[in-house]
Amino acid sequence: MTNPLLSHLKVGFIGAGNMSQSIISSLLQAKIIPHENVYLSNRSEKKLIKVSKELDVQAVNSNEELIEKSDIIVIAVKPQDIYNAVEPISSSFGEENIVISLAAGIPLQKLKKLAPQVKNWVRVMPNTPVSIKTGVVGYCLLNESEATSAVIEDLFSASGVVEKVTEGEMFEALMVATSSGVGFVFELMQYWQEWLEEHDFTPEQARNLTVQTFLGASLLANIDQAKSIEELQNKVTSKKGVTAAGLESMRELEVERAIRYSFEKAVLRDRELAKLSD
Ligand SMILES: NC(=O)c1ccc[n+]([C@@H]2O[C@H](COP(=O)([O-])OP(=O)(O)OC[C@H]3O[C@@H](n4cnc5c(N)ncnc54)[C@H](OP(=O)(O)O)[C@@H]3O)[C@@H](O)[C@H]2O)c1
Repeated sequence: MTNPLLSHLKVGFIGAGNMSQSIISSLLQAKIIPHENVYLSNRSEKKLIKVSKELDVQAVNSNEELIEKSDIIVIAVKPQDIYNAVEPISSSFGEENIVISLAAGIPLQKLKKLAPQVKNWVRVMPNTPVSIKTGVVGYCLLNESEATSAVIEDLFSASGVVEKVTEGEMFEALMVATSSGVGFVFELMQYWQEWLEEHDFTPEQARNLTVQTFLGASLLANIDQAKSIEELQNKVTSKKGVTAAGLESMRELEVERAIRYSFEKAVLRDRELAKLSD
């Protein structure tokens, strides 16, 4: 059940881009926060007016004003813009504000340096399916607090699955598997589609068959939670059958190793980007 306190809290979003729009729509549709308690600021006024009208939330003209009005502040600007956005207003944050950063590659200790008085810095990593409420939202806290965790879990409950993680390897793994992971799954989907197209299916047919196969497998795994994914796989794999032959080849070709290697490369790139922001 949603935290009833949340409906009284005021939530401000700095940056009216894609992520803010997805998160705000989910919050409003699920009635977690009423329209009048959502504030939005943005660098360009034109976008601010357009987005705030579309979402029916309160547009504010400056980031300072947004902080003054909000209990929870979500910083949803690109990582390269975060210092320009936050440094000039860092003294405006109150000790008790919950301040959420969506910026990839900016660790909690760097966020703390930006506004050391803030006790409740939170790093959140959403993936793009939050726009259709089937996302994954990972988060970690600067200071452990059950109350802050409860607020974060309720706030993002309408966006998809919410997981608390520790910063470092766990956060990196979550980011690569679920956020970059969406891109990796699209890569696999393109292989499926291309192969079907090479066998006389139109691009539209090939796309539909591909999407339905990935969707069907995911939904089966989701519905049949009692079975492991390996057990579900065994159900479609008869001994010496067609699927078994394909799987054997996938294992011989070490598809798993190739995918793990790609994950590790993505983690290394995340670390490089984090260093560049030093
Ligand atoms: N999109 C994703 O899939 C995804 C996934 C995980 C995490 N994230 C993180 O989410 C954050 C937002 O990403 P996004 O895709 O929503 O970016 P976006 O669509 O580019 O939106 C960023 C917004 O921030 C505004 N902005 C920049 N500087 C500002 C400032 N000083 N004050 C107020 N507003 C400012 C920009 O305004 P103008 O357009 O007017 O310049 C823009 O509307 C990023 O840190 C990203 O790493 C995104």
